[in-house]
Amino acid sequence: MEDIREFIKSLPKAELHLHIEGSLEPELMMKLAKRNNVEIPFDSVEEIKAAYNFSNLQSFLDIYYQGAAVLIQEEDFFDLTWEYLLRAKDDGIVHTEIFFDPQTHTDRGISFETVINGISKALTKAKKELNITSHLIMCFLRHLSEDEAFKTLEMSLPYKHLIKAVGLDSSEVGHPPSKFERVFKAAIEHGFLTVAHAGEEGPTEYIWEAINLLDVKRIDHGVRCTEDEKLVSYLVEKKIPLTVCPLSNLKLCVVDHLKDHNLKEMLDMGLHVMVNSDDPAYFGGYLGENFYQCYKELSLSKEDLIKLCENSISASFL
Ligand code: ADE
Ligand code: ZN
Repeated sequence: MEDIREFIKSLPKAELHLHIEGSLEPELMMKLAKRNNVEIPFDSVEEIKAAYNFSNLQSFLDIYYQGAAVLIQEEDFFDLTWEYLLRAKDDGIVHTEIFFDPQTHTDRGISFETVINGISKALTKAKKELNITSHLIMCFLRHLSEDEAFKTLEMSLPYKHLIKAVGLDSSEVGHPPSKFERVFKAAIEHGFLTVAHAGEEGPTEYIWEAINLLDVKRIDHGVRCTEDEKLVSYLVEKKIPLTVCPLSNLKLCVVDHLKDHNLKEMLDMGLHVMVNSDDPAYFGGYLGENFYQCYKELSLSKEDLIKLCENSISASFL
C-alpha cells in the first residue's frame, strides 16, 4: 500500500482546481485569529474540525466564508499560500492553477492589492525554491450580482499581468452561467481565459451554458455530465477538460460513497478528466490523498493514475 502512495507521489502532476481559501487549515485559522484579533466561534482546532460535517455545497460555503474572515494582512495571504505550496511539493505537484475569491475579502474591506500581493509573493518564492510553476484564476462569486462581478473585474485590471483566467464559483443552483455572460465577455476582451464551476450540484444545462455562453476552456467539477449522452460526446470530441474533485464530492454529498464516484467511468468514456483537491483543508485530503482514495475505492490501475496525471498537464494553461 505504501508503494502505491510513493508511486502516486512520483508522478509529475498539475493541480487545476484548488481554492486557496479552502486550504486554510484549522491550525492556521486559530493562529491568524489570534494574530489579527478576529473573533471566531471556535475555541480549539478540535472544535473547528468537528464543525466540518457538510450536507451539501451551501452548508460548506457558510463555514468556508466564515473561516476566511481571519485573513486580513498581506502576510496572512502569503502564509496561507505558502503552506499549500509546501504540501503541493510533497504530493509531486509541478504546476498549480489556483483559484482565489477577491469578493470574499474586498467585501470585508480588505484591498484587492493586499490579497493578490500576498498570494503572488508566495507563488514567486515557490517558483524559485520549490520549482513549482503556477497561474492564478480569479473567481466571481455567483451568488452575488453581475454588477458586483463587473466591479471586481475592474478592480483586477491593474493586476492583469498576475491573473491568467477568470472563473465562477460559490452557490451553483439558482445562479446559472448565463447570469455572468456579459462579464465573462468583457473579461475575454481584456485577455483572460475562462473556466466555470458547472455540474457539481447544478444540472447539465449549466455545463452547456458554461461552454456556449462563457466560452470556458475547462469545466470545474462537471461530474453530472454523464446524465447527458450528447454532452459527453461533445466534451470528448472537443477535448474539454473536467477538473474533478473526488473527496470534495464525497464530503459535500454529491456521492454517498467514493465507490459510487463516476471518475473511472468518465476516464473510460474518453473524457479529459483529472483529479483535484478543491478545498483540501475542509474535505479531508490534499491531492495525493485524493489519488490514493480513488485508487483504492475505484480500483484504478497504474495506467489510470498515469493518464490522470498526463491529463492534468495537458489541460493546464501552460
Ligand atoms: N468555493 C469553494 N469550493 C467550492 C466548490 N466546491 N463549489 C463551488 N464553490 C466553491
Ligand atoms: Zn471548487
